[in-house]
Amino acid sequence: MTTATDADAGTGPAVTAVRGPLVRFPADPFRAGRDEALSYTEDGLLVCAEGRITAAGEYAALRHLLPADVSPAHYPDHVILPGFVDTHVHCVQTDVMAAFGADLMGWLEQRAFPEEERFADGRYAREAAAVFCDALLRNGTTTALVFGSVHPESADALFEEAARRNLRIACGKVLMDRNSPAALLDTAHSGYEESKALLTRWHGKGRAQYAITPRFAPSSTPEQLEAAAALWREHPGTLLHTHVSETPDEVEWARSLFPGRAGYLDIYDHYGLLGPGAVLAHGVHLSPAERARCAATGTALAHCPGSNLALGSGLFPARETAGGPHPVTVGLGTDVGAGPTFSMLSTVYEAYKAAALCGAPIDAVQAYYLATRGGAAALGLADTVGSLAPGQEADFVVLDPRATPLLARRAARAEDIEELLFVLAAMGDDRAVRATYVAGRRAHDRDAAPAGRGAGGL
Ligand code: GUN
Ligand code: ZN
Repeated sequence: MTTATDADAGTGPAVTAVRGPLVRFPADPFRAGRDEALSYTEDGLLVCAEGRITAAGEYAALRHLLPADVSPAHYPDHVILPGFVDTHVHCVQTDVMAAFGADLMGWLEQRAFPEEERFADGRYAREAAAVFCDALLRNGTTTALVFGSVHPESADALFEEAARRNLRIACGKVLMDRNSPAALLDTAHSGYEESKALLTRWHGKGRAQYAITPRFAPSSTPEQLEAAAALWREHPGTLLHTHVSETPDEVEWARSLFPGRAGYLDIYDHYGLLGPGAVLAHGVHLSPAERARCAATGTALAHCPGSNLALGSGLFPARETAGGPHPVTVGLGTDVGAGPTFSMLSTVYEAYKAAALCGAPIDAVQAYYLATRGGAAALGLADTVGSLAPGQEADFVVLDPRATPLLARRAARAEDIEELLFVLAAMGDDRAVRATYVAGRRAHDRDAAPAGRGAGGL
């Protein structure tokens, strides 16, 4: 018989299956009603073959599809969700997480840049990439859009380590040719050539996607932004990943460097850097007109509430942006290392808090949607991951509402699945991630990890 162990990454038969309470988000909860947006199957079954979901629904209705030698890994009293999609995270900043930073610019100069300089060393980059990938899996994240450093080695290392774990990663070396430490500068020409070489090596290989990655407008010359846009145009299907309107001081700085432009977003618009496949992190201080421009161009925003609260950057109006008159595609990002955690569960809760402070709270279904299917849509992967639908890649996370004594007590009082999801976000972290599956195989098992149950970790 096939057991849970047989479904571990790299071993076992072609067909694997998982049974337990299933949560899916069939429609966008910012536009549809709760009943259409949330699907809950108390005794559900996911059947997977060759990395994809072949059937999803009621166990009783689907059990006949299981081959005689396959018995599903059974997670009663858990919750199975689509794997989390982290739409903005820096693999070169893991070791400066949780550092004090009075504001964005001070944090970049004192913490982020000195750390990123270390990634000139390929060995350092490789070790950091392995730690980063393990941290993603431990937190239930199966897809991520990632900033490297200016060094091509950082992106190579991440793609290699992600491929070893079959993680779905989009990454790019950072483009930055001004207003940064000398050791982190490239040029418009070298940045274009190095990005092109990486893209040729990695884009479309296995689950890798290339993301052309100008850091932000203040650290790129007009020539570099033009080169980035040219590369993006020349390679359809690649992503464009940058930061926008994170803090008021940064917005003013960007405007002063591009005085001919109407505003920060217009800089990217002018150089041809908006459109489907463009993912802009933060967007906290975008005006309603700028948000409407994101909607009109199909540009997505990566909302990073943990980072925004940690650096005092501001409050992103999630409900207005994802659900207003001009709905923008929004995903959630941890923004490690400005963000202090890899946990998308914690980030879901931070999103709720930031929205509440805006006077427009988002509910659990909306926040988890952003962390899964919304993020997949932001990365152009809505048909590929994020909804546990047949045909999708079989990436999912198994959450444990009894991971800690207090969580167990509180979860026992939850009256419905929506309340349980909220409690898991508010009180959970990597300890509540019982298992993470990539392409139908278990890639992280909390209870098998050497650190042991409840030992904490990234
Ligand atoms: N803006 C430009 N670079 C960065 C970065 O590394 N982190 C954050 N949070 N914002 C940025
Ligand atoms: Zn960032």
